[in-house]
Amino acid sequence: MPAHVTWHAYASREAMIAGVVAEVTRCIEESVAARGRATLALSGGKTPVAILERLAALDLPWEAVTLMPSDDRIVPITDPLSNAGMLARVFSSTAARVLPLVGATDGYRTVGVQADEMLHAQPWPLDLVWLGMGADGHTASVFPGPDYAAALDAASGRRAVGVRPEPLPPEAPVDRVTLTAPAIATARRCILVMEGDTKRRVLDTALAEGERSAYPIAHVLQQCNGEVPVHWLAG
Ligand code: 6PG
Repeated sequence: MPAHVTWHAYASREAMIAGVVAEVTRCIEESVAARGRATLALSGGKTPVAILERLAALDLPWEAVTLMPSDDRIVPITDPLSNAGMLARVFSSTAARVLPLVGATDGYRTVGVQADEMLHAQPWPLDLVWLGMGADGHTASVFPGPDYAAALDAASGRRAVGVRPEPLPPEAPVDRVTLTAPAIATARRCILVMEGDTKRRVLDTALAEGERSAYPIAHVLQQCNGEVPVHWLAG
């Protein structure tokens, strides 16, 4: 059952920040009210940072919130490439718990197994998964390569896997660990946040191609049931 995307198009960065912060705030408040806690997986990369900084400044029940990256680069948390390091910095002034996916930086498949074991000890399903998307149509760290099928496998029960993208993405040419497509798809809420006309065209193509698409985002969204809001900054 392919996801039904709902476009939220913004003409200004400020409007997109406000729109995404409102959606994530609602998710946190509703999750804490309903279950006493909220567990969110947040996108890495550059797009989220200004939005997350605005979110971190809000007076929310952070002591009941666990944050993790939707995926990460297999580097030490002190490395500028680390998504967990970015979350730890942005949310350092709050009581939120930041849960890295990367422990020891062993072989990438071992890191994936360790992340999966850690996630099997967490409250599930996730309350929110916030995805980004690259211009190549990857999302989280679901990339073409030897681990692509494992990352998309809906039947394995895996919540995280190690990934060696082929080719390595130039902005972060390292092995990765990622939430799997089923881990993303079973979240209570999945949102996509991206900017630019190129990415809009890529997503439109991916949605039109569906299961035939070469874009990973198409295959991840194919597993999502229900509505997936796309917060998009035009231009
Ligand atoms: C990562 C992200 C990745 C990101 C896209 C878009 O670790 O790189 O999780 O999936 O969302 O690459 O990144 P930008 O927002 O920087 O374009």
